Amino acid sequence: MSYDLAVIGSGPGGYVCAIRAAQLGLKVAVVEKDETLGGTCLNVGCIPSKALLHTSEMFEMAGHDFAEFGIKINKPKLDLPGMMSHKRSVVDANTSGVEFLFKKNKIDTVRGHGKVAGPGAISVTADDGKQTTVAAKAIVIATGSEWTPLPGVEVDEDRIVSSTGALSLPSVPKRLVVVGAGVIGLELGSVWRRLGSEVTVVEFLDRILPGIDGETARQSQRLFGKQGITFKLASKVTSVKTSGKALKVAVEPAAGGEGEELAADVVLVAIGRRPFTGGLGLAEAGVAMDERGRVVVDAHYRTNVDGLYALGDVIHGPMLAHKAEDEGVAVAEILAGQAGHVNYDVIPNVVYTAPEIASVGKTEEELKDKGIAYKTGKYPFSANARARALRIKDGFVKVLADATTDRVLGVHIVGPYAGELIAEASVLMEFAGAAEDLARTCHAHPTLSEAVKEAALAAWFKPIHL
Ligand code: FAD
Ligand code: NAI
Repeated sequence: MSYDLAVIGSGPGGYVCAIRAAQLGLKVAVVEKDETLGGTCLNVGCIPSKALLHTSEMFEMAGHDFAEFGIKINKPKLDLPGMMSHKRSVVDANTSGVEFLFKKNKIDTVRGHGKVAGPGAISVTADDGKQTTVAAKAIVIATGSEWTPLPGVEVDEDRIVSSTGALSLPSVPKRLVVVGAGVIGLELGSVWRRLGSEVTVVEFLDRILPGIDGETARQSQRLFGKQGITFKLASKVTSVKTSGKALKVAVEPAAGGEGEELAADVVLVAIGRRPFTGGLGLAEAGVAMDERGRVVVDAHYRTNVDGLYALGDVIHGPMLAHKAEDEGVAVAEILAGQAGHVNYDVIPNVVYTAPEIASVGKTEEELKDKGIAYKTGKYPFSANARARALRIKDGFVKVLADATTDRVLGVHIVGPYAGELIAEASVLMEFAGAAEDLARTCHAHPTLSEAVKEAALAAWFKPIHL
């Protein structure tokens, strides 16, 4: 089997790269070790988590919020197997969608574990031990990432779980302890809280969501607290004992000192993810890796070995599906002789909790660190007509613009559909737009997007409706 391009890994980075390369006329194969295509994102990541976030939010609304809208119903009953079956059907539709797209674009799928076996060669070992070799002019490593283990705590995916186990718990745990107040901890912590768990989140740092704009994270933490999530910040979990019915979680101050013990029925370990390169043969091939185990690539996604490229979670940058997808397109274009490129300054980041948290560009902390003079325009959803109709009282849009040029440098939103609203900020920033450009763009009324416009108005001159 000989190809122009062979991609190892069919996650959003790998499958998008394969499709675009095929569209550009290359003969393409994808090597995938798992039964279904789509990688972490489609099988045990973005897609199943969003299915559960949506259904659990509807369950909570039906139980707590409908009455405020003048809808009286009996207390809703949870059908967890039904919820899981909805989740599975969404995953299946997406993974078989990738299969369909591969057929449509005449991409060959080679099932098995791929290993770089020399210049232009991948040896593939199928589940039954059968070996084949795939030859290709270019090889792309798109093998993604895996959850980071916590020393002293053994994940059994039963009572001590990673995100994968937390997406498939057979019953609602009475007490859930989450280690790590990052994206996974807050998203999956929210799911199980809405379904009835008492959730405690233990976080090493003195804040949640590191990397997110500080004010935005503080406001979000306040709202999660109001919903009933307990935070233990500046704390670390040192062990989890599984003896007996309840788990005993040992928690200590991060800086040292006297600890405490929390009782839990399930513990979710969500302290980050690390690149996955197990059994790929990269060391033997002489591929350069950095101190965090990431494959080192240049601006054209080339490793130090001729003909070998890498993209997605396995290289530098945020571990996000859309970042991996855009790199997939860029690599395909580069291989087809075009000028593929990703603008790392404009990669949106969304936390799909309720309210959602979305951001693009620089945080206030980053601007201060870099000594960039900026102005801030802020607008609360409590002043937005559409938000009132939705009974949304919390959250805001914050636009950060260059103090001299008015160019938008960052936008941060905590509020309803923040993940959808951030898109216009991304487009604006991609075109190096100013707060005035956004403020003068006509927005439909009554929409939540008017809050984005008002925040831009506030950054440029003055808001109208505040
Ligand atoms: P992956 O999706 O990890 O795919 C890698 C593929 O390579 C896998 O299919 C794997 O089986 C295969 N593979 C690995 N080694 C080999 C080998 N040697 N041979 C053959 N095949 C191999 N990101 C977002 O942007 N939005 C979200 O809402 C979001 N939610 C998430 C929720 C959870 C619970 C998790 C865990 C992650 C989430 N992410 C989200 C992150 C997102 O899933 C990743 O950033 C994305 O999947 C990375 O894509 P990738 O193509 O680099 O790798
Ligand atoms: P994360 O990096 O978002 O958060 C991990 C958290 O754990 C951090 O706050 C960190 O300070 C904390 N931590 C680290 N060690 C700790 C310890 N020993 N004790 C207590 N806390 C500790 O990682 P997470 O949540 O595991 O998610 C992994 C990645 O997956 C994300 O960074 C993101 O790239 C991706 N993802 C994206 C989603 C989205 O876009 N909506 C959803 C879920 C995951």
